[in-house]
Amino acid sequence: MRRLIPTGDPARPVEPADAPQPVPESGEALVKVEAFSPNRGETFLLERPRPGFLPGKDVSGLVVRAAADGSGPGAGTRVVGHLPHSGWAEYAAVPTGALAPLPDSVGNVQAAALPLAGITALRLLRTTGALAGRRILLTGASGGVGHYFTELAAAAGAEVTAVTATPERGTRLTELGAAAVVHEVEQAEGPFDVVLESTGGSRLAAATAKARPGGLVVWFGQASRTPATLDFFELLSGPERVTIQHFHYAGEPYGADLATLVRLVSDGRLHPEIGRVADWAETANVLTDLRERRIRGNAVLTTGAGR
Ligand SMILES: NC(=O)c1ccc[n+]([C@@H]2O[C@H](COP(=O)([O-])OP(=O)(O)OC[C@H]3O[C@@H](n4cnc5c(N)ncnc54)[C@H](OP(=O)(O)O)[C@@H]3O)[C@@H](O)[C@H]2O)c1
Repeated sequence: MRRLIPTGDPARPVEPADAPQPVPESGEALVKVEAFSPNRGETFLLERPRPGFLPGKDVSGLVVRAAADGSGPGAGTRVVGHLPHSGWAEYAAVPTGALAPLPDSVGNVQAAALPLAGITALRLLRTTGALAGRRILLTGASGGVGHYFTELAAAAGAEVTAVTATPERGTRLTELGAAAVVHEVEQAEGPFDVVLESTGGSRLAAATAKARPGGLVVWFGQASRTPATLDFFELLSGPERVTIQHFHYAGEPYGADLATLVRLVSDGRLHPEIGRVADWAETANVLTDLRERRIRGNAVLTTGAGR
């Protein structure tokens, strides 16, 4: 079969290669991959790939061999899956606990865009607690996580202020329910009950200053690749009794959350924002555009297998 392997060359971070078909463990199904979605964080891992690294976390496709232990969907089931790596290939071995079946109403392209960004958004929503009537500030909102979070939080009754680089990158967020889109944290009109920060640098401090007294600040990434800095003494002149919490999406099995995301898409209550769809021969170019913030929401590559 064919798979994409890292080159270590930033101008062309992956290239196709012949590879053996993966041999699933007993709790893994063999999936014929029809579409996959790279996440921007994965583009960073490709800059200096560790030996043997095979990229690819988010896939959709067809189960061609059910798991040997009898768990999960049977052969012939269309699925979406989230795996630790190795998904940018014609076939992937996916743990059955990280798969969800797809109804006819959800296409492969939409499904591939769901896993990492969608699961993160769902789990962030649980971290924030009840949202009806609460004011939320969300930085780095033009990526996959930001679009899913904004639509789900707005539907739950929150008033979301999203931060994006440009109006163009914020357009869809307004359509998905954001109450306001601003282009610098400083422009956001606080105070906010909940602040979600994922861009790093000085923005964590700027966003924290927008929280209400007793508010919640959730730090979950540094898309700028500059470590977030906070001067404790500056905090003393800001809102009092703010809780700053770290968040990581991993831990619980992914299958149930994937099934929830699929159901929401099927019901027309969640709309994956897919800024680019291309054949997987274009993956290297798409990765560059994703890294350089030229793609809104998710990018999806198709293998042609499902056509
Ligand atoms: N903690 C977890 O478990 C977890 C899980 C998944 C993702 N994440 C993190 O969540 C964030 C969102 O992930 P994602 O995949 O949806 O999106 P992403 O593409 O990694 O980044 C989201 C947005 O951040 C903004 N951004 C990027 N570089 C920036 C810079 N130098 N300065 C200011 N803003 C910058 C960009 O928006 P604009 O161009 O519009 O400014 C970009 O669209 C990332 O930080 C990611 O690492 C965390």
